[in-house]
Amino acid sequence: MTAAPEAQPVLAVEGLKVAFGAHEAVKGLSFSIRAGETLALVGESGSGKSATALAILRLIEREGGRIAGGRILLGTGADQIDLTALSDDALTDIRGDRVSMVFQEPMTSLNPVMTVGAQLAEVFIRHRGMSARAALEEARAGLDAVRIPDSQRRLGQYPHELSGGLRQRVMIAMALACRPDLLIADEPTTALDVTTQAEILDLIRSLQNEIGMGLLFITHDMGVVSEIADRVLVLRHGQAIEEAATAELFRAPQAAYSRALMEATPRLGSGSLTTPASATPVLTVRDLSTRFPVRKGFLRRLQGELHAVRNVSLTLNEGETLGLVGESGCGKSTLARSILRLVGRPRAGWIWPDGS
Ligand SMILES: Nc1ncnc2c1ncn2[C@@H]1O[C@H](COP(=O)(O)OP(=O)(O)OP(=O)(O)O)[C@@H](O)[C@H]1O
Ligand SMILES: [Mg+2]
Repeated sequence: MTAAPEAQPVLAVEGLKVAFGAHEAVKGLSFSIRAGETLALVGESGSGKSATALAILRLIEREGGRIAGGRILLGTGADQIDLTALSDDALTDIRGDRVSMVFQEPMTSLNPVMTVGAQLAEVFIRHRGMSARAALEEARAGLDAVRIPDSQRRLGQYPHELSGGLRQRVMIAMALACRPDLLIADEPTTALDVTTQAEILDLIRSLQNEIGMGLLFITHDMGVVSEIADRVLVLRHGQAIEEAATAELFRAPQAAYSRALMEATPRLGSGSLTTPASATPVLTVRDLSTRFPVRKGFLRRLQGELHAVRNVSLTLNEGETLGLVGESGCGKSTLARSILRLVGRPRAGWIWPDGS
C-alpha cells in the first residue's frame, strides 16, 4: 500500500544508538514511517536490523542491550510520545496495542503451554478489557481474519500442533488483534516455503490496507522487498547507507553496497556442493508412515489419527546431500523426527541406519 504523501508519520526515529556493552550495534539511525506505508530495512547479517526493531519496542534491554542515544517518537502532534522515555508499565500498555511485532520464528514468541485460543484471547482481555467469553469469540474472528481454516478447532490446539505457516498466521493475528498504528515484522517469512511465504506477504499487505498501519519490514531477501515495500533503508554496520523509494533503488542503486546486496540473490546452480561418487547407503527408509493421535474436547478424547507421513521411501548415500522440499505442513520435519525416533513410533515401514 502506498501512503498518501500527506499521511501523518506514525513513527519517527531520530539519531538512534543501540549498544551491547561497549559495542555500538546501531550508530545514529534516523527514519520515519507514515500511516499505511511500508519501509523495508535491509542489510547483511549483523548490520543492526533486529537491534533497531527491538529498540523501538524497548525489548532490547531483555537481550542485554541498551538505547545509548536518540529518540523514538510514536504518533504526531499532541499525541506524540517518546518511547525511550516511557516507564515499563506504559510500555506494556503500548506493546501489542499501538505497536506490535512479528518475529521470524513464532515458536519463540508463542507460549508453548497455552492453547492458541487462550493466548489470543489474553490480548483482548489485557488491552480491551473484554470478558473471557467475548475475548475467545474475538480470538476466533482473529483466526478467521488471517484465513486459518477450521478456526474453532484451532482455538483449542497448542502451538506445536500447528505447521510453521499456521503458527506465523497465529502470530500475525495476535500482532494485529488491536489494530496497531505500527507493525514491525522481523524476517516473518524467512522460515517458510515459497508458497506459504507468498500467502503470508499477501495477508500482511491486505490487513495493512484494511487497518492503515505503518509497517517496518525487515528482510535480507530483495525479492520480498520488491513485493512489499514502498521505501527501502539499507543498513550497514549500524548506519544508513542509502534510503530510496523501492522502484528507484531497484532501477539505480546508488551505493556500491546496495548493488552488492541486490546481486547477492542466489541463483540455481551457483552452489559449490558436489556429490561424491560413493553409492554406499548410510540411511535407507522404506514405506515409512507416522501418525499422530487427534484428541478433542475437554477430556481430550481420541477422535482419530492424522497421517503426517505416508509411505515415504528414500536412500541416502555416503557423502550425499538429499534435499527434502515441500510446502508448509507437508511432513518434512515429522519425517526427520521419525527417522531420529523423536516422535511416536513409526506405525509402518522400516529404517536402516546403515543400509546393511
Ligand atoms: N544479545 C546480544 N548481545 C551482544 N551483541 C549482540 C546481541 N544481539 C546482537 N548483537 C550484535 O549487534 C549487532 C547487530 O545485530 P542484529 O541482531 O541487530 O543484526 P541483524 O541485522 O538483525 O542480523 P541478521 O540478519 O543476522 O538477523 C551485531 O554485531 C551483533 O553481533
Ligand atoms: Mg536479525
